[in-house]
Amino acid sequence: MPTAPKTASESQSHITWIVQPEDLNIHGSLFGGRLLSLMDKCAAMAAMRHSRRNCVTVSIDKVDFVAPVKHGFLLDLTARVHFTARTSMEIYVDAWAENPLTGDRKNVCKAFFSFVALDGDSQPTPIPPVELETDQDRQLNAEAQARYDARKKSASDSRRIVKK
Ligand SMILES: CC(C)(COP(=O)(O)OP(=O)(O)OC[C@H]1O[C@@H](n2cnc3c(N)ncnc32)[C@H](O)[C@@H]1OP(=O)(O)O)[C@@H](O)C(=O)NCCC(=O)NCCS
Repeated sequence: MPTAPKTASESQSHITWIVQPEDLNIHGSLFGGRLLSLMDKCAAMAAMRHSRRNCVTVSIDKVDFVAPVKHGFLLDLTARVHFTARTSMEIYVDAWAENPLTGDRKNVCKAFFSFVALDGDSQPTPIPPVELETDQDRQLNAEAQARYDARKKSASDSRRIVKK
């Protein structure tokens, strides 16, 4: 399967949402699990656009809930691929909440999602490398590479320990 590079902006994806009663927690603000589910969906859209494959979430790293989101506020989510390996990719999703009456906007959550592209037999399959375009892409790429290397190293260390 040819894997020509694809730019990060080619697969960038967005979801806009209005926070309604079914999205709320017992405090009357947006339930964190609801927000994570929307972010996961937005990341899945970017993963599928990047790979043109079915993709599954394999991990979520470093979720920061920065501020609560009120009932009736508008949510804007953006997902962008900043790291690709052989079959997996890391996607940064950030969420902004907007007061619809004033237009004031606040960053409310950010997280890193890892997805794996699957072939028709549900096996991991190669994906195109991502072509980085911005300074933020390059910074996130370096951080993701370090996470990827650390995870691979710890997997191979634990295999060595099990074999002893
Ligand atoms: C995703 C899945 C198919 C990977 O299977 P696997 O046996 O771990 O496959 P591999 O070891 O070959 O790893 C495949 C890729 O996943 C990456 N990966 C595995 N575990 C990971 C983790 N915890 N975090 C990030 N990447 C991970 C590997 O690095 C590899 O990427 P690479 O080819 O780019 O190096 C399997 O773990 C799975 O089906 N998980 C459940 C997915 C799911 O149901 N998600 C929720 C609903 S969408």
